[in-house]
Amino acid sequence: MKITIIGTGYVGLVTGACLAELGNDVLCLDLDAAKVAILNNGGIPIHEPGLEVIVASNRANGRLKFTTDIQESVAHGDIQFIAVGTPPDEDGSADLKYVLAAAKNIGKYMQGFKVVIDKSTVPVGTAEKVARVIRDEIAQRDVAGADFSVVSNPEFLKEGAAVADFMRPDRIVIGSDDTVSGQRAKAMVKHLYTPFNRNHERTYWMDVRSAEFTKYAANAMLATRISFMNELANLADRVGVDIEAVRHGIGSDPRIGHSFLYAGCGYGGSCFPKDVQALEKTAREYDQELLILHAVEKVNQHQKQVLGKKVVARFGENLTGLHFAMWGLAFKPNTDDMRAASSRVLLRELIDRGATLAVHDPVAVNEARRVLALDFDGESEKLARIEFVNNPMDAANNADALLIVTEWKAYRSPDFAELKSRLKNPIIFDGRNLFEPRDMADLNIEYHGIGRSVLTQAE
Ligand SMILES: NC(=O)c1ccc[n+]([C@@H]2O[C@H](COP(=O)([O-])OP(=O)(O)OC[C@H]3O[C@@H](n4cnc5c(N)ncnc54)[C@H](O)[C@@H]3O)[C@@H](O)[C@H]2O)c1
Repeated sequence: MKITIIGTGYVGLVTGACLAELGNDVLCLDLDAAKVAILNNGGIPIHEPGLEVIVASNRANGRLKFTTDIQESVAHGDIQFIAVGTPPDEDGSADLKYVLAAAKNIGKYMQGFKVVIDKSTVPVGTAEKVARVIRDEIAQRDVAGADFSVVSNPEFLKEGAAVADFMRPDRIVIGSDDTVSGQRAKAMVKHLYTPFNRNHERTYWMDVRSAEFTKYAANAMLATRISFMNELANLADRVGVDIEAVRHGIGSDPRIGHSFLYAGCGYGGSCFPKDVQALEKTAREYDQELLILHAVEKVNQHQKQVLGKKVVARFGENLTGLHFAMWGLAFKPNTDDMRAASSRVLLRELIDRGATLAVHDPVAVNEARRVLALDFDGESEKLARIEFVNNPMDAANNADALLIVTEWKAYRSPDFAELKSRLKNPIIFDGRNLFEPRDMADLNIEYHGIGRSVLTQAE
């Protein structure tokens, strides 16, 4: 099928590449000319396991193309995916300006019938807004036979496993309406997703609004589980309980399950923080307060400060003259995404208190340089106190303590003897509970985990 992807970011590029891999003829549009140039010159602008290979092969066989030309992109696809960003507005609501700009462009240039698929995460009612914008644009032109239907198809891929998630989804949620155009769109979307349903039916058909809501409900639930465990972990630290033992104890209940129960130094990324806020904003528009989600967000903001607080409790308020190693910058492993990453909160805290840092991340260093330059805009002296190193052990050289912020596999089994020989003090603040406190005690390493102080001698 002929597909256009509007917005070639994490979601758009994965969607485009995977649909091309299945034999579709895909054109990806982005207004960021630098991004399109990288893609057209054989590169890839993001780190996502497995993506580079399928982008390269489908670019080579001509099934995956990239453009900045809006008119060409509208003409190309019978199906137009909107996969642009929906960042938080100042009041926490999802900013729909990119989504509606994409809709306007479709309406401005479309001929014949188009299926417009909202893949961006958008609040309930957005499909109606998108339809209105397209309809208004069509009305301004003298174009016969232009028709469309807007379908909601939220994306559930996880960064770091996005290609696998897209190719083998747990579920495909499709919201469509029952008009004649809606039925036509439904048939086309069904055809598009047929290869994904070969093993068993994975598609959940529903009305458009319910599909839009499902995405927020899913992210809100996952964020809730994380904040729930983080809050309990902080209590565990005080009452002498090992949160990891508790995690196993409750996760074994099939009604609870093991996923998303890890205590840590807070969730980040492009989705959970903004989607929780956006759902809260939707509720306020309908005179309802989402008390649980309000707490989820508050707990997470607090949790991002937990490592900084532990460092201050250990070393004092003034960190001038102290030097720390940091392992992990990305908001989670296997991605270079730094959006709302906990590392940024911790860096701000330690740098403001006078510390210097040597930081390592396997893939996010370039992105970190970019976002930290913005975070510390006009504070060049502070930014200069962050040194990027290529090897985790080098980060540890002469450091007063090691801070672990992202649970990359490469950090899980370090050579502790070497690590100790590099560190000035054998102290680890582990924001992801990678290590066993008792093992650390045996190694004479002072260990500060999250919700594990009952097992450590030093705390
Ligand atoms: N990143 C994820 O893991 C993930 C997962 C599921 C859903 N989502 C949702 O998918 C949407 C996209 O997220 P993302 O992380 O891919 O964003 P992103 O910022 O990586 O990519 C968005 C892209 O859209 C481009 N763009 C903006 N306006 C445009 C326009 N009018 N025409 C063409 N291109 C335009 C931008 O230049 C950018 O490259 C968001 O709503 C997000 O909440 C993201």
